[in-house]
Amino acid sequence: MPATRTQVGIVGAGPAGLLLGQVLANAGIDSVVIEAQSRAYVESRVRAGLMEHDACQQMRDAGVGARMDREGLVHEGIILRFGGTSHRIPLTELSGGRQVRVYGQQEVVKDLIAARLAAGLPLHFEAHGTSITGIDTPRPVIAYRHQGQDHQLECDIVAGCDGFHGISRAAMPADVLKVFERVYPFGWLGILADAAPASHELIYASHDHGFSLLSMRSPTVSRLYLQCAPDEDLSEWPDSRIWDELETRLADDQGFRLTRGPITQKGITPLRSFVAEPLRHGTLFLLGDAAHIVPPTGAKGLNLAFADVHVLGHALIDRYRTGSNAGLDTYSATALRRVWKAERFSWWLTTLMHRFDSHSPFERRMQLAELDYLTTSRAGMTTIAENYVGLPLL
Ligand code: FAD
Ligand code: PHB
Repeated sequence: MPATRTQVGIVGAGPAGLLLGQVLANAGIDSVVIEAQSRAYVESRVRAGLMEHDACQQMRDAGVGARMDREGLVHEGIILRFGGTSHRIPLTELSGGRQVRVYGQQEVVKDLIAARLAAGLPLHFEAHGTSITGIDTPRPVIAYRHQGQDHQLECDIVAGCDGFHGISRAAMPADVLKVFERVYPFGWLGILADAAPASHELIYASHDHGFSLLSMRSPTVSRLYLQCAPDEDLSEWPDSRIWDELETRLADDQGFRLTRGPITQKGITPLRSFVAEPLRHGTLFLLGDAAHIVPPTGAKGLNLAFADVHVLGHALIDRYRTGSNAGLDTYSATALRRVWKAERFSWWLTTLMHRFDSHSPFERRMQLAELDYLTTSRAGMTTIAENYVGLPLL
């Protein structure tokens, strides 16, 4: 069976694995990335869209920020809409000048893949990781299947960046891993449409029918979401029903109208909060969705994956430059402090904005009163702004 050796073996070419590979390459550290899916598949998977201030800086620092800076849409505020009225949260003004950027996750992934391939660095698509062994030793091994052949990759360190359904978290000893989870009784139906966004800024709307969100990908492409049942049947949502329901939930007292256009993509995402602790056992480290999931309401998933890379990247650079394991030893505790704060924000915003069938009219009034308080208090708006643009990476 062919065997190769590298310093850091990276399982998964999502945002976490690809950015880590780039950061390590820039520091002269060898890595091999294996990815179960094809390049076309990962480059076209429509997912996150909103990048925090520091996540954008991480792209620039890694040398892959040029297209994001040219094509990404800078945002300095968001709109919260409830009871038919709109309330703008001036993110930049309330966060000391920080901005967020709309730049599709698949664009981030394309830029990182292009940089890795241009540098001639190993990135194997359709290479399915099957096991990770020896994590209690300094020579862990990733076994994978590529083009009908079994391979072994021997590493110093394994970076588990293979998302929620990957093999890395499962490779942690069961008696070590603690899991914290909340599954919400709803999902999001998301669409991509060839239609100019009806608002320059994102609109988060809390309506008696349920939550909805207007986002975008470009001046001609809208990205919109509707709260739905977690097991909603997409075939019951013809395009006209989706637009009508979005129109109802996003309506305001100023006659807001959506721009409609051909829907080019539709999908349903269940909502969950999930954290696995610790993020490290022996020579295996977990990053991104492999370790934690947030409901998309706070737009934190990709940003959290990037924040993990920031912490582990520095720790690995330190280890290879100085021989010190101090950063690796504190990786889990350091990353988890920020993870839990992003989990809290995402859970809170989800709970505040969504319709819960279990809620009584009293609880709905509490949501509306809290929204009214938050959007009329500088302190309230500031707490939203500083979490939304992103808490400090460390
Ligand atoms: P992933 O992107 O899941 O990458 C993991 C990779 O590992 C995949 O390519 C997978 O194919 C590969 N893999 C899995 N198993 C194996 C294996 N055995 N061997 C080899 N490879 C394997 N986040 C935000 O920050 N902002 C947003 O606006 C936002 N909106 C979202 C909207 C939706 C509809 C969804 C679904 C998510 C959204 N997120 C958002 C979350 C964000 O997309 C994820 O948090 C992000 O993709 C996590 O990156 P990752 O690299 O950790 O994992
Ligand atoms: C998106 O554009 O896909 C998006 C934006 C903000 C969110 C979630 C998703 O909170």
